[in-house]
Amino acid sequence: MSEPINLVVFISGNGSNLQAIIDAIECGQLNARIQAVISDEADAYGLARAELHDITGVVVDHRNYNNRNEFDQALLQNVNQFNPDYIVLAGFMRMLDPDFVEAYQNRIFNIHPSILPNYKGLNTHRRVLENREKEHGVSIHLVTAALDDGPILLQGRYPVEQDDKVEDLQYKGHELEHRMYPALLQWISQGDMVILDNGIVFQNRPINQPVSFK
Ligand code: GRF
Repeated sequence: MSEPINLVVFISGNGSNLQAIIDAIECGQLNARIQAVISDEADAYGLARAELHDITGVVVDHRNYNNRNEFDQALLQNVNQFNPDYIVLAGFMRMLDPDFVEAYQNRIFNIHPSILPNYKGLNTHRRVLENREKEHGVSIHLVTAALDDGPILLQGRYPVEQDDKVEDLQYKGHELEHRMYPALLQWISQGDMVILDNGIVFQNRPINQPVSFK
């Protein structure tokens, strides 16, 4: 088997996507190594998940820095010591500034709970329900300095039922996310998806059609 890809995962909270990635690695479905989990919140539950699996946890608390630039510099210094192949944003609630994005250009992924470019930003489930959408979903994209922007690598969709509440969409979305992130990372690990330095993506998988990630 080829070398595993090295990942640093950024979180701010629960870390269920982190858990899905850990589980996929541990059961041999994903050929990757998580070098560290970095959180901007000291009490993020995802840090406990990391500790349980002997993964280094690092806290970079934005409250300890005077401005966004200083915070991003601190983040960058912390990531650089691991020199990862990719940075995986998994519920990381802060935007990265252009210097940070440039340092890891086309090597930062984000997962967002909507069918981008629709519903960027927060509270996607609530807005989808307000607009009586029939369909909702999840996107994984390359990170640029703009919010929830950047080339879309993979999308998953699910139907919105008439009596669905925010919690129902959260549940359906998470279920999809937990299959999508490990699947995408494995495609990258085994060369089914190749991202060039200039951001051009080659892939032999459809990005926006219903896919079974099992
Ligand atoms: C996910 O719904 C993801 O789409 C969004 O933040 C949430 C993180 O959930 N970016 P978790 O912390 O992985 O449970």
